[in-house]
Amino acid sequence: MELIKAILLIFPAYVANASAVVIGGGKPIDFGKTWRGKPIFGKGKTWRGLIGGCLCGIATGCLINYFTSYFGNGIEAFTVIFALSFGALAGDLIKSFIKRRIGKKRGEKWIIADQIDFLLGAFLFTYILNKNWFLTNFKLHIIIFLLIITPAIHLAKNIIAYLLKLKKVPW
Ligand code: CTP
Ligand code: MG
Repeated sequence: MELIKAILLIFPAYVANASAVVIGGGKPIDFGKTWRGKPIFGKGKTWRGLIGGCLCGIATGCLINYFTSYFGNGIEAFTVIFALSFGALAGDLIKSFIKRRIGKKRGEKWIIADQIDFLLGAFLFTYILNKNWFLTNFKLHIIIFLLIITPAIHLAKNIIAYLLKLKKVPW
């Protein structure tokens, strides 16, 4: 039961991350600009993916909260749901920024980082925007559980996206 709750708590981040892949495309967030000869984020990070993914995550969080109230009430709930959704995409963006700095091309594999980037981003932003909610809900064993199951789920999702030709590489 506690593990089902853990998955529901992080679900807006999962949806934000996954829907960015489906919705993404169009103008890159970095507008194709480079920094010291390398792309800032690369063409795999787009405005459509960021905004669309964030909105899908928020919608999912609102739906979950309607039935569970896990995220709290009113503005507090919205802040937490926003932090989970936006944080997931920000984590992904930060990971791409680091990838480009260390010379990895867009879509190039970076094991573990590619799978838990959005999770760390969601944790970080939730912690920043509502430390109390974070500490109450994301206890250490829950964080460890999510860190372990996420790479497995994420990989399965990416393989499906690859088979559906939504993604260029299966990771
Ligand atoms: N995507 C997007 N905007 C985002 C995140 C993802 O448009 N903010 C879309 C892009 O089409 C991207 C795909 O989702 O190619 C897969 O995302 P991801 O694996 O995170 O990006 P990569 O293309 O693998 O690039 P990177 O090497 O920077 O991880
Ligand atoms: Mg990738």
